[in-house]
Amino acid sequence: MIGLLLVILLAIVTTVRIAKILWSRRALYKISKQLNGPRPSLPLIGNALIFAGDTSLHFERIRSCINAYPHPMRLWLGPNLLLVFSDVNHVEKILSTTKMTHKSDLYDIMKYYVGNGLITNSGPQWKHDRRILLPLFNTNFLKTSFDSMQEHSVSFVRAFEKFVGKGYSDIHHEVHCLNFDIIGEIICGVKLDTINGSNLDVLHAMEDIYDNIFSQMVKPWIHSKIAFDLSRYKKERSKIMTTIRHMVMNTIEKSKERVKADPEMLDGSDNFVPIIDQIHMLPDVQLNSDHKLLSDHIMTLFAASEDTTTITLCTTCMCFGMYPEYQKIAAQEVRRVFGDKPRAVTYEDLSELKYLEMCIKDCLRLATIAPIILRKCTEDFEIDKWTIPQGANVLLPIFEIHRDPAQWQVPLHFYPDHFLPENVAKRHPYAYLPFSMGPRGCIGKALALQMLKIELANLLQHYQFECDGKFPDIRLRNDISVRPIDGYKVKVFKRIWD
Ligand code: HEM
Repeated sequence: MIGLLLVILLAIVTTVRIAKILWSRRALYKISKQLNGPRPSLPLIGNALIFAGDTSLHFERIRSCINAYPHPMRLWLGPNLLLVFSDVNHVEKILSTTKMTHKSDLYDIMKYYVGNGLITNSGPQWKHDRRILLPLFNTNFLKTSFDSMQEHSVSFVRAFEKFVGKGYSDIHHEVHCLNFDIIGEIICGVKLDTINGSNLDVLHAMEDIYDNIFSQMVKPWIHSKIAFDLSRYKKERSKIMTTIRHMVMNTIEKSKERVKADPEMLDGSDNFVPIIDQIHMLPDVQLNSDHKLLSDHIMTLFAASEDTTTITLCTTCMCFGMYPEYQKIAAQEVRRVFGDKPRAVTYEDLSELKYLEMCIKDCLRLATIAPIILRKCTEDFEIDKWTIPQGANVLLPIFEIHRDPAQWQVPLHFYPDHFLPENVAKRHPYAYLPFSMGPRGCIGKALALQMLKIELANLLQHYQFECDGKFPDIRLRNDISVRPIDGYKVKVFKRIWD
């Protein structure tokens, strides 16, 4: 009898709990009903089966799903409701407001990698840290880090020699080493020298982590710690993170020693001082005393920059190969600025390389590195006739916006003229978002563009590229970033001016 009463009591408590949860989520179900979207296949999983099976198919699957319905549309990833907005006016409203700066819970999985750095954090801590870190990436830092970028580019150009005349070669490893070495020096103050074979364990660990993190992100059944710990991804992640953390902690110790030995190092404004040393010299007690937070920021800055710049440089070389008519114009500009004999790039040269910058920008559009941006709505937010309820996630499909024929003359192909001033003026400012925009926009945009310009100016003085096909022929996949399934294969030739 008592047993039966207990069972009844338990059933009542459970029913009340479930009813409470459903009631608190009623606004989510309401907007979900108002919008189009695929039918959730299973109650606890929602539409997450898009991400089942072969990972190389996920990207195309999510793209076709997003493109199959009018926007705004909805998707369920486990219990997470995702509202997809692609109208540029809506996107502007969402990205420009301070009310939508909270990152979606789905980014929490990235915290295993980059902790509570700027990319993953939200709320007062993020606001505080962004206010402190953003000014470090100022013009003086760009100027003083120039020499490091140029110096590494020279070794890189030498390393490229091995590809000359060898047919199709995957250039990713060399490009990755270049950017790894530059970022290692200017952010962390260490000479990694991966281009000559040192520290490759760290470089490979950083390559492997993206797939590991993304696999958990899109599989709601391994979101919980218990389920994840039982999965095959756990062991792999522990190994990768031990290697990366070891490098970062070493970096922090060395920086502390440098700053102790020369506390005046920032006084001469022309001196190059790596970001980590600058952080150590900040009067901000929290950042300097909390080792975990500092290491999170260093990991974040490293992660945010080495992979993104690598993908962009590789893709630009491929685009030059696939679209020789634009490579020719970029090369002519390089010849006009540098002359017929290769010479070192100077800071003053950068402002002359306008067409090269247009090429980089169109590559960033086509090979959108962050194909989607996710935000969590922390208070009800009105957009036109819709109310995005608190608790919903907003998904901005940047990859699709970058291919919107209403905004782009040649949406699917490499076409640097998209960035002629007259064409830029005709476009909605929120149609081009490779670095996002607004209060959570990228803090390394100028640094990235400078690195890429220096690297490409060096490359184009020495080499020319050939590649069959056009951009739509490249099969893409995504983890945290978008990448070609078959790697970055181009034919490299010595440049001979006619
Ligand atoms: C081609 C290179 C790069 C691209 C395409 C890129 C793209 C982006 C995008 C799209 C975001 C917004 C992500 C989101 O809201 O979910 C972002 C944020 C960020 N980026 Fe970059 N990035 C690049 C290079 C860099 C570099 C060189 C650094 C620093 C050294 C950097 C540091 C950051 C940081 C710290 C954030 C987070 C900002 C915040 O939320 O307050 N990025 N980046």
